[in-house]
Amino acid sequence: MAAPDPQVVDLRSDTVTRPPPAMRRAMAEAVVGDDTLGDDPTVRELEAEVAALLGKERALFFPSGVMANQTALAVQGRWGSEVVVEGGAHIFHFEEGAAAALKGLQLRAVHTDDGVLRPEHLDAAVRPVSPYLPRTSLVCVENTHLASGGRVVSPEDLDALGRAAAARGLPVHMDGARLWHAAAATGRDTVDFTRSVDTVMVCLSKGLGAPVGSMLAGPADVMDEAWRVRRRFGGGLRQSGVLAAAGLYALREHRSGLSDDHRRARELAAALDAVPGISALNPETNVVMADLDPEVVSTGDFLGFLESHRILMLEFGPGRVRGVLHRDVDSSRMSRLLQVLSECARSGFPA
Ligand SMILES: Cc1ncc(COP(=O)(O)O)c(C=O)c1O
Repeated sequence: MAAPDPQVVDLRSDTVTRPPPAMRRAMAEAVVGDDTLGDDPTVRELEAEVAALLGKERALFFPSGVMANQTALAVQGRWGSEVVVEGGAHIFHFEEGAAAALKGLQLRAVHTDDGVLRPEHLDAAVRPVSPYLPRTSLVCVENTHLASGGRVVSPEDLDALGRAAAARGLPVHMDGARLWHAAAATGRDTVDFTRSVDTVMVCLSKGLGAPVGSMLAGPADVMDEAWRVRRRFGGGLRQSGVLAAAGLYALREHRSGLSDDHRRARELAAALDAVPGISALNPETNVVMADLDPEVVSTGDFLGFLESHRILMLEFGPGRVRGVLHRDVDSSRMSRLLQVLSECARSGFPA
């Protein structure tokens, strides 16, 4: 197996982290059973710990965030109905049309300026009762909101949305792939963010450093049904305690480091902003979005320039690039990254 290049600064996503030796040891030593038969003690432990952290009755381990999100949609969304979702959401853009393909759901994407779905958006998106109009069955929110640069949706905004949805008899699902970041950035408890949503998905493999794993949490009856849907989707696992051990390690040992990623994100944004022709959004968490002036540099040329310095970022829509900070961007990689950008700010791009 080729060892990863120690010089590469990989900012494509916070999913690129590699499990550190202590996490690998925890995986190797995990006590396991057969989770589909219900007797994997390490999976049980992880599920109980996550349910408590999220203030929900029950949590279930999933192989991926997409599967956990889509299970939440399949359980709570009604076939042939609409799901109101924020317009930049992962569920809308990056889940391969799963809601339509797997459960016959129509996504009603609502544009917001800042990624925050508010009661007035529901006023506009939930259709009046009529035999000619689709019914709405679910509302989805994303926190932190990736497309707007890892923005935090506050507990108070979530409370307002939860009240507006409940008034219409609609459940709310939160894609909390990076919810740990929202809590770390604000100093609020995770339950403050989850108290007004019915179900919540969180990832262990984004930022926290586990190689695999997401969790769906919610009321016990919803999770009973989610267990069946997970199996239908092929997500019923066996000795998954090996993976759950990595998740437990990530939760217990790596959450406290997330604010370092936020500090580094601010440093990266400032360094990008200092380059003529680049304007970076102010990061609230670990995601940095920067817009390029096409008169100065194209996204392709900028990404190519970075790659020539073994720095990897991704294009995120026309004229926009993204860099995501995570625990494998250590201080020496960070210094090299800032050095390359400050050189670029001084001397411009090579012709
Ligand atoms: C906001 C958000 N939701 C869901 C997912 C899906 O997670 P996974 O890649 O584990 O399926 C991602 C993945 O990056 C994400 O960023």
